[in-house]
Amino acid sequence: MTEILVELDRDAGHLGAQLVAALRDGVRGGRIAAGTELPPTRRLAAELRVSRGVVVEAYEQLVAEGYLLSRTGAGTRVAAVRPGALSTDPATPRTPSDSATPVAHDLTPGTPDLGAFPRAAWTAALRRVLSTLPNSGLGYGDPAGVSAFRTEIASYLARVRAADADPARLVALNGVAHGLAIGLRALHERGHRVLAVEDPSADRQRHLLRGAGFELVGIPVDDAGLVVAELAASRATVALVTPAHQYPTGAVLLPQRRAELVAWARRTDAMILEDDYDAEFRYDRDPVGCLQGLAPDRVLYLGTTSKSLAPALRLGWALAPEWLARRLAQIRGSSDLGGSVLDHLTMAELIASGGYDKHLRAVRRRYRDRRDALVAALARELPRWRVRGVAAGLHVLVDLPAGTDEAALVEACLAEGVRVQGLGAMRFAPGGPGLVLGYAGIRPARLAEAAACLRRAVAGVG
Ligand SMILES: Cc1ncc(COP(=O)(O)O)c(C=O)c1O
Repeated sequence: MTEILVELDRDAGHLGAQLVAALRDGVRGGRIAAGTELPPTRRLAAELRVSRGVVVEAYEQLVAEGYLLSRTGAGTRVAAVRPGALSTDPATPRTPSDSATPVAHDLTPGTPDLGAFPRAAWTAALRRVLSTLPNSGLGYGDPAGVSAFRTEIASYLARVRAADADPARLVALNGVAHGLAIGLRALHERGHRVLAVEDPSADRQRHLLRGAGFELVGIPVDDAGLVVAELAASRATVALVTPAHQYPTGAVLLPQRRAELVAWARRTDAMILEDDYDAEFRYDRDPVGCLQGLAPDRVLYLGTTSKSLAPALRLGWALAPEWLARRLAQIRGSSDLGGSVLDHLTMAELIASGGYDKHLRAVRRRYRDRRDALVAALARELPRWRVRGVAAGLHVLVDLPAGTDEAALVEACLAEGVRVQGLGAMRFAPGGPGLVLGYAGIRPARLAEAAACLRRAVAGVG
């Protein structure tokens, strides 16, 4: 039987509560390992100089909370409650993280520069909102989002994304993921069951898409974006696309393909989900307008602040045909009573004051410099790697020379202190090896260092 080393402060009183807290912390923190048999109550009571009832009650409390297991005749043991000890869902994607080397350069794609969040502008906007909002404004808002938010976002989307935007068809969301979840629920209700997804595409969303009750079919993407002829040959009646900047290849859906995609939707009574996740960031020219502007009757447009501001906000929006916008608002109202009125008003104020555009101008310059620095460093260190896609967004995809063992290279990069993501997990059909590298949060000089580490990793795997 193991010593569990609990100390009680007799002067502080509440010895039972102290014992519960000490044991709970010991189990949570791993100091008292899963499976450890605890001393019999009589012995521990004697050691701690408390009545046996105090220990019995403490054990009972922790059994009730799930930290301890008690079986008649078998004593009391510690349950497996630490995160590492919990059984994990084997289908949950995991990033390789078991390297002994600390990560010096985290190039995992998906996150903007969190240090660039406009704290002062956001705080000032919130202060302005709070100084004018009547008390009545602090109640539950419209589940579709407060009117000021919908008006500002609609005019922003019309101005910047050439969207066919009407505040009445705009619904506030917690981000693209939320829009996919409730959008697919609404489409499922209408009988849709097969969802076309770009191949490759964000693996992070797959669970959510399947969880909505859809069969997924991967449709290839080439340098002109989604291969619509393959979509037309599939059984899909809904297509999820990233037309402005395909994730992760960086292709832009060319005009011919955009027309074909819309024609497919009209011909087959299908719906298009447009994920416009990073359209604010195009560095070589103005971004192409969104697909929704071409076919507002066929497109559920989803936008987010996860790249433009920070994922922590969980703030986004949907622009939909009237019937679908109405259903999205109903689902929102019946599932969580709507989003944060204060966040919506603050976002509206940030846009109206010009603060959002100013922030975007500043980070666009920063990301362009970082992308240039990474691409130049890769060309210098790894001339056989081919960077794909247009100059845009917060990540690049590199095609690796044929025959490269992608998984081994990802591990070797980690051993050199660089975390990267392999393309393999994003694919449906087998394809060539590649890496997806996020650069938004890393300064140019550090990106050059990271590229040198990547070269050493490549040399290591041969
Ligand atoms: C392709 C793609 N779409 C959308 C998002 C953003 O999702 P959300 O708005 O739910 O944060 C991400 C984030 O990584 C992404 O990679």
